[in-house]
Amino acid sequence: MGCSDADYAYLREIVFHQSANLIDPSRNALFDRRLISVTRMAGVSSLKDLVAMLKGRRPAHLHRAVAEAMTINETSFFRDVKPFDLLRTAILPRLIESRRATRQLRIWSAASSTGQEAHSMAMLLLERFPEVASWDVEIVGTDISSRVIEYAQRGRYRRLEINRGLPASMLLRYTIRHGEEWEIVPSVRSLCRFVCANLCAPLPPLPSFDLVLLRNVLIYFSLQDRNVVFRSVHRQMASDGYLLLGNAEQAEESTDRFNIEFSEEERSYFYRPVQML
Ligand SMILES: C[S@@+](CC[C@H](N)C(=O)[O-])C[C@H]1O[C@@H](n2cnc3c(N)ncnc32)[C@H](O)[C@@H]1O
Repeated sequence: MGCSDADYAYLREIVFHQSANLIDPSRNALFDRRLISVTRMAGVSSLKDLVAMLKGRRPAHLHRAVAEAMTINETSFFRDVKPFDLLRTAILPRLIESRRATRQLRIWSAASSTGQEAHSMAMLLLERFPEVASWDVEIVGTDISSRVIEYAQRGRYRRLEINRGLPASMLLRYTIRHGEEWEIVPSVRSLCRFVCANLCAPLPPLPSFDLVLLRNVLIYFSLQDRNVVFRSVHRQMASDGYLLLGNAEQAEESTDRFNIEFSEEERSYFYRPVQML
């Protein structure tokens, strides 16, 4: 074990304070593994010394680095398949129809991690709804971790990442190989923009979104913080927009700002914003 229970509790507090992520005490060992690089960055030789430094001088950048290092950035192209079928068959056709007059679409991959979700969205649009190629389309990926945002901005993926969820036909059409990395083509990348943002804090300037993908991040928050996130997502959405959550996530228990809708065809749920008075 790297440090005392009190020290782990302190590290959990830092993470909660910085990112609202709850880490169960049963996962203390994760701090030992994940904070090796932060320990090195701080110029100390053990987790115990890192905690002493964090408690003493309270350097803000190290507090942020601890929270970032503890984020779970698991993602993949076209993750879970079904939501992308739902987007293709039900949500995007309706949305595109309703935006035909303005020819503008704003999509938010909230908690985008390394960008596969946003890039999948762009590929889906180009592949299935080619008419929007001439529209004003922006897919904004945001994440609390500057490391994953920089990765997404670079738009290059390794074999392991490419092999997870990207169909062979899309690999050929939408990537360019550079040795052992595959770069997303400019026509896809130009639709996507990535910025750092903490979902539990005031958001940076963002447009009003027609579609929000808020997937596989609520699970890390308390019920109360989920409510905070739903409130700001609601504020950031067009009144006739669409919201998709992850498979294990739901809105009903923590907010009354969204109504659930069910797609018979895809046997899937999505949400629409409630009009606030
Ligand atoms: C498991 S990944 C999900 C990625 C993608 N949405 C998906 O479903 O594949 C969760 C992401 O949420 C980000 N995250 C965690 N807490 C956050 C917060 N408070 N604000 C913004 N992003 C956060 C993490 O950095 C991580 O990249």
